[in-house]
Amino acid sequence: MAVTPETQRWDRLFAVRTQGGADDGIAAILAFLGMPDLISFAGGFPDPLTFPRERASALLEEFAASGEASAFQYAPTRGLAGPLDALAARLAALQGRRPADDELLITSGAIEALELVGKSFLDRGDVVVVEGPTYLGAIMAFRSFEAEVVAVPLDEDGLEVDELERLLGAGLRPKLVYTIPDHQNPAGVSLSLERRARLVELAQRHGFLIVEDVAYRELGFDDAAVPSLWSLAPDAVVQAGTTSKTFFPGVRLGWAAGPGRIVSQLVSAKQNTDQCAGALGQRLFEEYVRRGWIDEQLAVSRALYRRKSERTLTALERSMPEDALWTYPRGGFFSWLTLPDGADADDVARRAVERAVAVVPGSLFFPDGRGGGDVRLSFSLVDEAAIDDGIERLAGLLT
Ligand SMILES: Cc1ncc(COP(=O)(O)O)c(C=O)c1O
Repeated sequence: MAVTPETQRWDRLFAVRTQGGADDGIAAILAFLGMPDLISFAGGFPDPLTFPRERASALLEEFAASGEASAFQYAPTRGLAGPLDALAARLAALQGRRPADDELLITSGAIEALELVGKSFLDRGDVVVVEGPTYLGAIMAFRSFEAEVVAVPLDEDGLEVDELERLLGAGLRPKLVYTIPDHQNPAGVSLSLERRARLVELAQRHGFLIVEDVAYRELGFDDAAVPSLWSLAPDAVVQAGTTSKTFFPGVRLGWAAGPGRIVSQLVSAKQNTDQCAGALGQRLFEEYVRRGWIDEQLAVSRALYRRKSERTLTALERSMPEDALWTYPRGGFFSWLTLPDGADADDVARRAVERAVAVVPGSLFFPDGRGGGDVRLSFSLVDEAAIDDGIERLAGLLT
């Protein structure tokens, strides 16, 4: 945002912790989406084709006709009993472990779960390890508590746990290690089973908490699921989940599952943020799960995103110069494109917009300015029929 006497007047009063600059990042991505005729590989948004319009509308009518009050009322901070039970049963079915009553909290989206973890654990200067690259919202959430965010690289098997171990050996003492083990945002890679076991072992040895973000876990393109970190080590992991990609983000609904002592601290932290996640969304989600509709929709959504991913990868193979590299996701919304040597991602992203294509430059996904030669491609929202054209226009800037 431009600095004017008017903005300066208020900037002087803003808290010191708001200075840092990354906060404009997500807003910049969202701003792209408004351009007409843009082929956007920018925002990691779900495809509106997956939104349960009729079913949501039928459920609303049912709630109104039945005279039920709970969907329209304030909810307990931890969540309504029915939605908590439906979610716990779902975690048991999908991850092989049912959280006990004190181990689960319904949040206003996964981002709030991260915010509550930050609020509960982080003092100024505390170290949080993230993957480099990682989800921009997480970097921003941890930074808002004045944490030092340190990025450990990842490769096609996810977080480089060897490198984390080396840093721990050299004296790094993180309170939290934040990871997105399944179909990662932004790199599209997944953490191997062997690395999951080693990461858990490191957490137990060094006493840090693993914050596992499972935003894309249910969106695998095939049925090969690796155990979640939380199911492997429920004593060392808080899992942050979201319904945004499997239901719809308009309800802002997610969860935190972890050790009872931690979850009760998160519940306290939530009491003075929004007090409770919206009851209406909780009830809609509960019914969507109980009637089996979520599984029906998931099968359709996974097939849709798989088609879009395949089309994107094929277009990349056809049109990118030989020295460009990209990841091959097995689920989720993203592929990470490493540009040919010397190409500057900010410059490419700027010139792409002039050709009505949007991508996000890689440096936004690092806390330390790396990523200058990479861009994130999100295929989730782009119209299937426009993918080939979009990738060709992008490749045209690189050859
Ligand atoms: C890794 C990751 N975590 C969390 C979120 C946000 O989830 P929610 O909409 O539940 O806040 C996103 C959304 O883009 C994401 O990519």
